[in-house]
Amino acid sequence: MFIEDHLSKSDQLVLMFQAVEFARNGVVMTDPKLHDNPIIYTNPAFTDISGYSAEEILGHNCRFLQGEDRQQPALDELRKAIKEERSLTVVLRNYKKNGAKFFNELTVSPVRNEKGDLVSYVGIQNDITARIEAEERISDFYSVVSHELRTPIAKIKSSLSVIEDGEAGPVSDSVRRFVEISAKSAESLWRLIENILDFKKLESGKFRLLRQRLRLSELVENVVAEFQPVADEALIQLTCQCLANPHVDADGQRLVQVLENLLSNAVKFSPRGSAVAVRVLMSESNFARVEVSDQGPGIAQQDLSKLFEKFQQLESPDRRLRGGTGLGLSICKAIIEAQGGRIGLSSREGQGSTFWFEIEPSS
Ligand SMILES: Cc1cc2nc3c(=O)[nH]c(=O)nc-3n(C[C@H](O)[C@H](O)[C@H](O)COP(=O)(O)O)c2cc1C
Repeated sequence: MFIEDHLSKSDQLVLMFQAVEFARNGVVMTDPKLHDNPIIYTNPAFTDISGYSAEEILGHNCRFLQGEDRQQPALDELRKAIKEERSLTVVLRNYKKNGAKFFNELTVSPVRNEKGDLVSYVGIQNDITARIEAEERISDFYSVVSHELRTPIAKIKSSLSVIEDGEAGPVSDSVRRFVEISAKSAESLWRLIENILDFKKLESGKFRLLRQRLRLSELVENVVAEFQPVADEALIQLTCQCLANPHVDADGQRLVQVLENLLSNAVKFSPRGSAVAVRVLMSESNFARVEVSDQGPGIAQQDLSKLFEKFQQLESPDRRLRGGTGLGLSICKAIIEAQGGRIGLSSREGQGSTFWFEIEPSS
């Protein structure tokens, strides 16, 4: 059922016109053949957004919405696109008739006749001020997290380790126990904040990798050795088997972060007394591959694809969530993919899971 099938040409035009008139996006059309490309049509939504009446708008170039605020890099892009007769979407700072600033998400497109000649430009405007302000608030929140939370937690961590080491005087066994608990909590709070900040870097494209040539097996063995006390405490038998020792060009710190994350998940979801096995091997496609297998409850088929998405947390079998931001695996995915690698898992409910990542070996 298309409108061409049951409406005459003129009825189609009326319907199109009504659609534009009733749209909640601002719509303007300009005439590039006239001096200074003036507006020749505005819909009611654009008068609502800008606060100007149709009479005040028609016949003027749209730049009047910029007021004195003419130093905007997006304007250079826009000028170029209009000159080259192509479409572009930009966000501009514009001002309503009452002087209030608003962020205008503008898409400009050339309109051509059947012969392909330029006859008009159509501009579609959205007032996205609420969204931009929300993003600014989120960004403020991140700077609070990074400065005002990280600094005191760093101090708490270092003070606790001074007490633990006995540098502040003798420590009784019962006090040591509480200091250890506090140190562990401070550590997980620290990791949570790091995760949140990493996530922010990922979102804003500021995630940097420091690649170097390293031996994958050595890196994996070191991480597993450092993780041993955590596994011991959870009564998990942790083993590491290196069936290959490829070189990779990768960011070692970030690989450690990925592996720690996979190990910590494996231990968290494994029953006491079970085993977690780490293996380094070459994959069938000749990539360097690291696997972390557990004997935990496994993951249902329908949840597998969700697992690497942001803010996804799976419920443990006892229906309790087991802490964390739900960002860990999405960060792991970004880290591995940024180095040209792949990450994934295979799992069967009731039969444990194997998380793996693969990176191309360096020659
Ligand atoms: C169809 C169309 C719609 C436009 N809509 C807006 C707008 O809503 N706000 C704005 O600041 N500029 C808008 N512009 C851009 C200005 O008209 C102008 O092209 C821009 O300011 C750069 O040129 P200038 O340096 O001569 O001012 C639009 C342009 C076209 C062609």
